[in-house]
Amino acid sequence: MSAITLLTRAGSHEVSIELNQSIVALAKKNNIVWGHACQRGVCAQCRTHVLEGAEHLNEVTPEEKLRLRKAERAEGYRLGCQTKIVSSGTIKVAHRPY
Ligand code: FES
Repeated sequence: MSAITLLTRAGSHEVSIELNQSIVALAKKNNIVWGHACQRGVCAQCRTHVLEGAEHLNEVTPEEKLRLRKAERAEGYRLGCQTKIVSSGTIKVAHRPY
């Protein structure tokens, strides 16, 4: 069974993977607080650090390229509202707003 670990200031939460769901949507569904205001890639309140399993996530979107610096993206930062799970596997992400 593939799982995703969502790390927040409140702790670590392990939930089942759902394909084509965004990190923000998955957190919401599991009652995990993952800041988000716009869900359009603008506010960056959902800023997420991918710690493991980037290969199971969608490609960086144009919105993320506009909002996040290249250096941040190179370090594995994404926007949780734009990041979707595309294949099963072990994934670990942390909520890291500015
Ligand atoms: S919720 Fe605003 S950028 Fe993700």
